[in-house]
Parts: sequence; structure tokens; C-alpha cells
Amino acid sequence: MRLSNLCRVKPLEALVDETERPAHQLRRTLGPVQLTFLGIGAIVGAGIFSTVGTAAAGGPDHVGAGPALVLSFLMVAVACGFAALCYAEFAAMVPVAGSAYTYAYATLGELIAWVIGWDLILEYAVSNAAVAVAWSDYFQVLLRGFDVPLPPWLGTDYRSAAQGAAALAEARAAGASMTDLGAVLMRGAAAFEQAPQLFGVRIVFNLPAFGVVAFVTWLVLIGIRETAKVNTGLAVAKLAIIVFFLGLGAAYVRPEHWTPFAPNGFKGISSAAAIIFFAYIGFDAISTASEEARNPKRDMPIGILASLVICTVIYVAVAVVLTGMVPWETLGNAEPLAFAFESLGMTWTAGIIAAGAVLATTSALIPYQVGQPRIFFAMGRDGLLPPWAAKVHPKFRTPHVTTLLTGVIVAVCSSATNINELVELTNIGTLFAFILVAVGILVLRRRDPDRPRPFRTPWVPWIPLGATVSCLYLMLQLPLKTWIRFGGWLVIGLAIYACYGRRRSRLAHQPPRPPTPRP
Ligand code: ALA
Repeated sequence: MRLSNLCRVKPLEALVDETERPAHQLRRTLGPVQLTFLGIGAIVGAGIFSTVGTAAAGGPDHVGAGPALVLSFLMVAVACGFAALCYAEFAAMVPVAGSAYTYAYATLGELIAWVIGWDLILEYAVSNAAVAVAWSDYFQVLLRGFDVPLPPWLGTDYRSAAQGAAALAEARAAGASMTDLGAVLMRGAAAFEQAPQLFGVRIVFNLPAFGVVAFVTWLVLIGIRETAKVNTGLAVAKLAIIVFFLGLGAAYVRPEHWTPFAPNGFKGISSAAAIIFFAYIGFDAISTASEEARNPKRDMPIGILASLVICTVIYVAVAVVLTGMVPWETLGNAEPLAFAFESLGMTWTAGIIAAGAVLATTSALIPYQVGQPRIFFAMGRDGLLPPWAAKVHPKFRTPHVTTLLTGVIVAVCSSATNINELVELTNIGTLFAFILVAVGILVLRRRDPDRPRPFRTPWVPWIPLGATVSCLYLMLQLPLKTWIRFGGWLVIGLAIYACYGRRRSRLAHQPPRPPTPRP
């Protein structure tokens, strides 16, 4: 394997040329406000509606932050702020639809681009599986509200059921019973015990999660334009439901719930930070709309940074109100915002929150279900994935093969895997991608200092170094098994590149372009 091959870059000029040909030109209609809403649409989802609960109360692999969750949110905001400033430099420099994968290919070389592209599957597809599980949990709160509960084996993923069954066996061996397990394990155990069997295998399946992914896949397959149009409306609806939660919840805050403020000390704050990082993922997804931005060089950084700041303010407020409404130890479930009202006896309000959360998480599914197939598509077009990945549907003009592939991966993961494990894997993968982007800024400033940069990350090298160190710190808070899974994922990716992409890369078979003169 020659090093020069692994470092081959797709010329930036060629990328920009491609987008400027009339046949490939998208309509540039998005201004800074729409871009910011696009960001909010992608960011606000299962993180604030769901993972916030286990971040406060603790979960199987980490201790909770308690009321100090607000500090966890601020800690992650700083790490993401550093990463966003790095991202903004890339997004303005390579104003081409795509993602960190495209930026890396244009600047850092094919191998790093492949690693980022492979890694982004964790950020897009795996994270969407987690969002679908959260969707399912809120949907089931709604169904219970209408008195039509789903049997537990049809509303739980297989992994949670298996974990619940194992915990129950242990509890029974120790002379305890099912009611001694926590709520989540109890539900898993019940699902396992009641599940019908097929050839001796228990059938446990998260049907709502599977169903919503199937629906969203169909939606993005037939009409990307329609989807994009409703995005701003859905983002506004999401904000409205959170404002509703804050406005009403604030009236039920009891300040005694805030003491002790940090029951598990700094350890609790930082391990919760590594979990609620999930809530911030998505500000980088704005970059996929670069080619539809009126003035990407100015508006991309504005959209990325503004959506991050707005979401931080919202998240801090939610953390303060939520931990003030109920004792933090009780929040360890997947629908904490509805639970807080339910436990105050306000079932109707809980129902409204659950309905809002269903809407919010549906809209949070869409950007990733749109983004992932396009990353696969770009990789297919570059020859790093087989040609079927670059196929476009003759009627819908969408990358239908990769859209369906993404749908199947996400639906299967969401119906079979536990939300905590999905969130942890997503977080480690995304944090790693942020580190690669930050290091990329440092490398490029040195290697290509004269390249025009419409937006420059300030205080280089300190901001990229800050992003690297803070993201690495958050990665280190994640459990060893998540690191092992992540390592395995990268090894599989590198093996695929070595066996396929390295040889089939289109760039490998193209004659070198003459250098384009710079202005
Ligand atoms: N930030 C996104 C969410 O919370 C992934 O759903």
C-alpha cells in the first residue's frame, strides 16, 4: 500500500466546479435564519427528550450528574463550540453538499476521508436508531394515555429484554423478585417473560421504532423537497413544546430538589456529559445544505454557531427545570419530560408533552435519514463503495438504494438494540469525527496556509487543540465496552477500504489534473 495513494486528495476546485455546472446546480434559497432552523431541527431530538433522564439519574454504565446536569450541558457546549468553530472553517472553505467526508477528501486525503465517512455511519445511522427507540417510548406513553398499551414484547428491543431477563435471574437467585429491579430492567424482564416463542427463540421486537423508521425512509425516498419544506415548521413546533414544558414546569419546581447539587461530584458531571453529548449532535449536519445556501461562506458559520448557542440556552433551562420538578434519582427512564408531569399526577400535561416529543423526534429522524444515504452516495460516486451506492431513482431523483439500505440498518438496530448502547456508540464515533476535523484544521493551516478561507477559526492552534482535548476527554468517560465496539467498527472499516475502496477509488484511475491557478 503506497502512502501517496492513501493521501490522494480530490481537488477542491473540481468539487466546486461540479456544483457550478447548471445540470448539477441546486437552488440557492437558504439564508442564515433557515440554516439556523435547519440546525435546530437536527439538534433537538431524543437527546433532550430522552437521554437527559439517564444522564441525570445514572444508567447501567455510568453515574448520574443529579441537578448538576446543568454543568454537564455547559461542559459539552464548550467542547462543541470549539468543534463548531473548526467545522465552520471547513464548511465555508468547501461549500459543497456533503459532510466531513467531502471536506476530508478535498483536503486530508482518501484514507482519512474513508475513516470519517465510515465513522459518520455511527453519527447518522446509529444515532437515528437511538432516536427511533426514544420515539417509540414516547409513542407508548401516548398509547397508554388512550388505554391501548402495547404488549411489552412488541414495544421493547431484544437487547433490553435479554438484559432484563439476566437481571431477573440474578435477582431470583439472590432471593429477590422482579419488583426489586429498576423500571427499565423490569420492563425488559416482563417483555422477555411474556414473549411468544418461535423455534425456541423469544420474539421481542420494538415495533413502533421499526415502524417509524420505515415511514421516514419512505418519506425521504419519495420527496426530499417536501421534507425540507416542512422542516422549519417542525423546528418551531419543537421549540414550542419545550417552551410549554419550561413555562409550566417552572411553576412546579421545588428548590429542595436541587440539593445536594452534585451528588456524584465531578465524576457524575463528566460521565453525564459524555451521554448528553448526544443532544448536541447535529450542528454539523447543516453543512449538508451548503449548496442550497445563498451565501454559504458567510451563512454557514452563522447557522452552525447560532443553532449551537440557541440549543445550549434551551438545554440549560430544561436541566434546571427538570431536576427541580422531581427528585433526580427518579429520572432514569426514556421519557423523563413526560414522566416529570406524570409523577405530579398531571396525566393530561404528560400526554401533551408525549405528543410533542413524538413530533419532535420524528422531525429529528429526518435530517439523518436524508444525510446518511447521501454520504453513502458520495462514497459510491467516488468509487469507495460499489456502484449501486451511487444510483439515483429515475422518477424520484433520490439515491434510492442507499436510502433503503439506511432504512433497513436503522430499523433493525432500533428494534433489536438498547438505547443506551446506541447512544454511547454514536457519541464515541461523533466525538472522534470532531477530533479528526479539528486536527484537519491544524494540518491544513500548516500544509496549505494560502488557501482562501472565508471563515477562519479564531485563535489557532488553541481552539482546534481545545476541541481535540475536550472531545477526547468526553470519549474517555465512555465505558470500555463502547471503546471495544468502536475499535471493532474502525477495524472493519479499514478492512473494507483495504479490500475494496483503495483499488476501486475513481481518483486512483483518473489522470492527475493540472493545478488550477489560484486568484
Ligand atoms: N441531537 C440529536 C438528538 O438529540 C441526535 O436527537
